[in-house]
Amino acid sequence: MDTQASDTAAKPFPWVPRWRTLLSSVAMARDPIGNLDRAHAHHGDTVGMHLGGVRPIIVTRDPVLAQHILQKNHRRYLKSDLTHGLIRYIGRGLLTNEGADWLRQRRLIQPGFHRQRLAGLTRLMQAAAEEWTQELRTRTAAGPALLDIHEAMTRVAFRIISQATFGTGMSEAERERLSDILTQIQAFYVRTIRQPYLRPWWHLTGSYRYHDALSQELRELVRGYIRRRQAAPNSQTHDDLLQMLLDARYEDTGEPMTEDRLLDEANILLLAGHETSANALSWLFYLLATHPQEAVKLREELQAAGLANRPPAFDELSRLPYSLQVIQETMRLYPPAWIVDRVAQEEDEYQGQRIPKGTLFSVYLYGLHRHPQLWSAPNEFRPERFAPHAQPPVPAYGYLPFGAGPRLCIGNHFALTEIQLVVLETLRHFTLELPPNTASVPVPLITLRPPHGMVLRFLSV
Ligand code: HEM
Repeated sequence: MDTQASDTAAKPFPWVPRWRTLLSSVAMARDPIGNLDRAHAHHGDTVGMHLGGVRPIIVTRDPVLAQHILQKNHRRYLKSDLTHGLIRYIGRGLLTNEGADWLRQRRLIQPGFHRQRLAGLTRLMQAAAEEWTQELRTRTAAGPALLDIHEAMTRVAFRIISQATFGTGMSEAERERLSDILTQIQAFYVRTIRQPYLRPWWHLTGSYRYHDALSQELRELVRGYIRRRQAAPNSQTHDDLLQMLLDARYEDTGEPMTEDRLLDEANILLLAGHETSANALSWLFYLLATHPQEAVKLREELQAAGLANRPPAFDELSRLPYSLQVIQETMRLYPPAWIVDRVAQEEDEYQGQRIPKGTLFSVYLYGLHRHPQLWSAPNEFRPERFAPHAQPPVPAYGYLPFGAGPRLCIGNHFALTEIQLVVLETLRHFTLELPPNTASVPVPLITLRPPHGMVLRFLSV
């Protein structure tokens, strides 16, 4: 990126002095959220700083600027190398692609996420939810059980996204290997962003080579699976995303996707739909454990809808609005994707201020969601903020857990549905609480993933 241009761009916005970002770069790597919150409280809603003391970036929690970048002027802003760096490991799919090629792929893939398709996928979401409650039943048979909910939800979310993508034919061992590879790649990638000064060391010690090999293994695993599917004569009977990707044809040429394309898109879905949902579910259970009244309200809603004794069907989920509000409020307090990056592709202007080409932006969703001027009692868990006709209403562009504009998350309804099903199935059978003597509240760090897991206590109802 053009550093000089960015420095000029930054002038209209206040900047954290460079010596300060240099001094606090370790603290920033350790606790980015705390540091960004302090910078905004001190300098205002949009503030420039140097990432790691080196790289200029403008971080905003201004809803109007968020809309400007993500929606109104989205053509002028592409994702930055912070996202594109993933291409090395996962390939060029919807999340990492750009421009006309991205649009063509999005149009091709979007129908796979339509309501009717989703209804078909809820059966396997429900099966994953039941498998999880079955496991809980075994664990709680002799009394209350302590469980790392983040570990459990990572498994549940991966089972759901991998089966939605590849169907139920994949073996447990294959699925576990896929999950393990993706987790390792993701963890390493986040480190390369957070601690760029260690990159030479990782080159030297073979970490890059090791993760490149993992990414190759991932591709070959998925390639093998796709080929098995293509060779199977009864391909019409599959109702999963892979089959949709195989059957899809470009409007202009009538051609299907190439195998490598298909691989990239499938891998991107696994990556994008895995940890995000697991984190949302983990924080949701944490919030219910610490807000028993809200858990009671959820059960009452199930009872009133006549759904206390069986799982809801897809069409019945809309009869459970409070459960949706609880999920929305969880993702306000703990947005699983807490920043969204963009870089200006050409010169732009915002409220009379010149934004030179090359300016790097981070839309700080966590800050937007807890902005003291946008939300009353911003740090409190109040699901009814999302009730229809609630006053004050949800602020425009102040709530963006799935992003905004044309790059809005393609899996948003998928995610909301799986979360709703897993939570309701759990609450039908169990109550939960923080273990006695829990010393401290978990503090979200880099990926809004609970830093040391999250242990909760489950009891059979
Ligand atoms: C709670 C769960 C989820 C959250 C919070 C979430 C959040 C997001 C956000 C914020 C973006 C936009 C990023 C940007 O603009 O730079 C995004 C994009 C995306 N998400 Fe999700 N996501 C979730 C679940 C899922 C699931 C389950 C899938 C797949 C089934 C998925 C697939 C994608 C894809 C493919 C994109 C890129 C879309 C495009 O640019 O065309 N996500 N997600």
